[in-house]
Parts: sequence; C-alpha cells; structure tokens
Amino acid sequence: MTVYELSGRKALVTGGAQGLGEGMAQALARAGATVMIGDVQDEAGAVAAKGLEGDGHGFVHLDITDDDSWSSAVATTVDHLGGLDILVNNAGVEITSLVTELDAADVRTMLEVNVLGTALGLKHGLRTMRPEGAAGNGGSIVNVASVAATIAFPGISVYSATKSAVDRLTRVAAMESGKLGYGVRVNCIYPGLVPTAMGAGLAKDVAELGLFASPEEAVGAVIELTPAGRLGEVGDMADVVVFLASDAARFVTGAGLSVDGGMGM
Ligand SMILES: NC(=O)c1ccc[n+]([C@@H]2O[C@H](COP(=O)([O-])OP(=O)(O)OC[C@H]3O[C@@H](n4cnc5c(N)ncnc54)[C@H](O)[C@@H]3O)[C@@H](O)[C@H]2O)c1
Repeated sequence: MTVYELSGRKALVTGGAQGLGEGMAQALARAGATVMIGDVQDEAGAVAAKGLEGDGHGFVHLDITDDDSWSSAVATTVDHLGGLDILVNNAGVEITSLVTELDAADVRTMLEVNVLGTALGLKHGLRTMRPEGAAGNGGSIVNVASVAATIAFPGISVYSATKSAVDRLTRVAAMESGKLGYGVRVNCIYPGLVPTAMGAGLAKDVAELGLFASPEEAVGAVIELTPAGRLGEVGDMADVVVFLASDAARFVTGAGLSVDGGMGM
C-alpha cells in the first residue's frame, strides 16, 4: 500500500456527471475510494457512477447552489458510503462575455454556482468531516479553481473573478479548519484549458466575440502561452486531485496548485 492509496476512503465529487468531475471520480475510484457523484444531471450522473471501477459507488442529486440540497445529498452520501473523507468541489459554470456586454443574470449564475456553490460545499464538507460531524474522521477537500484566477484572459472577466473567490475561500477554510481542530485539509487546483464541453465551448465563444479569428486560433494562443506546449487533459487534473486527497499530501493545506502546464506562472 502506497501513500497515494485511497482504499477505504469515501469521496463525494460535485459536477461528476461529465468532464473533469467524471475523470476525477474515475481516478479516485481507481485509487481505491468509493465515490458518490453529485450533480444536477440525474441521468448522466447515474451513468457516470455506474462506469466507475469497483463496487459501492453511487449517484445523488445535488444542486450546489442550494443549502437544503447539500444537507440532503451529504446525508445520503454518508449513509450510502458509510462515511465521508474526501470532497471535491468541482462543479462550475462559465459564461463568456466582454465586460462591456455583461448580462446581470449570467453574472448572478456564475456567482451562484462557482462562489456560493463552493462556499456551501465547504460548509457542509467541514461540518460533516469534523470530529463531531456525521462522518467525523477529518479528511481532505479539493476545490477546483482555474488558471483564470491567475492570469488575465479576455472574455472571462466574471468567471475569473469567481475562480479568484474559490482561491480565497480555500485559504480561509483551511485556516479555520486548522485553528478549530477539524482535521480537514483544504486545497484548490488551478486547471489549465481542457477541451471538455466547457473548455471547447470557451474557445468557440471567444472566437465568436471577435477576440480570436477562430476557435482553433484561440486554442493555439493558449498553447503558445503554455510552456508544456499542449492543452490539459482530464487525467492531468484527476491525478492531482488523487494526490491532494491522499496521505501523500498530509502536510499540504491552504495550497493552490497550478495544473496548467506552466501557463499561469
Ligand atoms: N475545462 C476547462 O478548461 C477548465 C479549466 C479550468 C477550470 N475548470 C473548472 O473545472 C470544473 C469542471 O469543468 P468541466 O470542464 O468539467 O465543465 P463541464 O461543463 O463539462 O461540467 C460541469 C459539471 O458541473 C455540473 N453542474 C453545473 N452546475 C451545477 C450545480 N448547480 N450543481 C451541481 N452540479 C452542477 C454540470 O451538470 C456538469 O456535469 C469547473 O469548476 C470549471 O470551472 C475547467
């Protein structure tokens, strides 16, 4: 057994019905954890959970913007898995716009999902994993920020602001968890561009705004800014989540880890 092994650990991954979250759920399951996928997409979420390696995994409906939905989903998770040691606050949304064209409803949606949703995830994760919580064994929370929190890329002003908020939420939650003896490490990752539904949509949207001649040119510009010379892959993000969830990261808390091929350095 290595320090990366997650056998016996129980994990909840938000936004795990597709994209990065699905890949994170798969990697956690491969490392030995039992995994609950929480998402607003019931059908896709259930299919994703069925596809996970090993037994005991599940799907629970979770709208991360809703406090009651969190209470219910976390209770179901603890009941189904027999505890909770790992929470990955991955669900998020991106709506591209020039600053001059911002739509208030779109801004609210991004604030609700990315900031409120992550904040509520921290609230419920810490309450459940701290010593007096329903799971009570401490654990690890990994928040998914973005390289957008570390650079200025055109067309994603509010998205970038919400991901900077995820970064700060991470630090303060880690501080409180340490000071109050919760035994929960709290970290975040800053993924670079990955061609999921969201990543591919972003390249298309910034081209439509006239910021790049085509989606391919937008992707080329990102690669140009990336010392590693390529886009990110789902597995690049998922493996780092496994590391942060595992005992290999036992002395890592309050950290933000760039997983962007150097784009944000
Ligand atoms: N793809 C990228 O290039 C990239 C880069 C940096 C950061 N990120 C971040 O990674 C995370 C995952 O991105 P992705 O590319 O997989 O996106 P995606 O759009 O493919 O998947 C997002 C998932 O979140 C779920 N979701 C949305 N709102 C929800 C809510 N209110 N409650 C529960 N689930 C909800 C969706 O149903 C979906 O399954 C996001 O936080 C995103 O901001 C993505």
